[in-house]
Amino acid sequence: MFGLMDQFRRPTGRRGRFVAALMNRGHKPLTLWGLTHVKIEPDYVILDVGCGGGKTVSRLADKAPLRKVFGIDYSADMVEYSKKLNKKLIAEDRVEIIESSVEKTGFSDDFFDLVTAIETYYFWPSFSDAVQEIRRVLKPGGHFLMVNEMVKDGVYDVRAAKTIEQAHVDLISLDEIRNTLEAVGFEDVQIFTKSESPWNAVLSKKH
Ligand SMILES: C[S@@+](CC[C@H](N)C(=O)[O-])C[C@H]1O[C@@H](n2cnc3c(N)ncnc32)[C@H](O)[C@@H]1O
Repeated sequence: MFGLMDQFRRPTGRRGRFVAALMNRGHKPLTLWGLTHVKIEPDYVILDVGCGGGKTVSRLADKAPLRKVFGIDYSADMVEYSKKLNKKLIAEDRVEIIESSVEKTGFSDDFFDLVTAIETYYFWPSFSDAVQEIRRVLKPGGHFLMVNEMVKDGVYDVRAAKTIEQAHVDLISLDEIRNTLEAVGFEDVQIFTKSESPWNAVLSKKH
């Protein structure tokens, strides 16, 4: 995509800001589809990890107007971009955007009702370490929702091999995702797929 493929992993600088705008628009249908798989109460405290351009944070704040939605990203430029996009919600103390990594979020134990991760897990250095950290910051009974437009199923990943390589995407199969979530203690793992597309959403719960 016009030499921007290397930007999705950690959007930076002018090209990164361009990619953030593209993602905020382009990920809308996928994100709206993904969010249909979890019930969001108005008083939820929510974390969006790898928030990129910050549009998911605004959408979540609309669904949970009574408390606060946090977004984290390890790209300082994405944090700045998300802060600008969510300026009004930040001024109302309904949103906070923080530069931080998913492996070490910096939040207290049992803090969130819901953690979302849209189009980001395949850039994390260790999926297992990251989901362990996400489980730590979830309240008992809290949910973790991952939403992705790519899948490793032996068909899509073969067809899209070039894109996957250019974007430095490290896909793992849905079975492996389920196994890792269960291994770190998540329960009720549910996998949703959209027919005739590689889209998938994985919902799990901390008991
Ligand atoms: C493809 S973008 C998706 C952004 C956004 N979630 C969306 O759907 O538009 C991936 C984002 O994850 C962030 N990211 C990747 N690895 C991360 C990590 N280990 N910790 C925090 N953020 C990370 C990147 O900086 C980037 O903004």
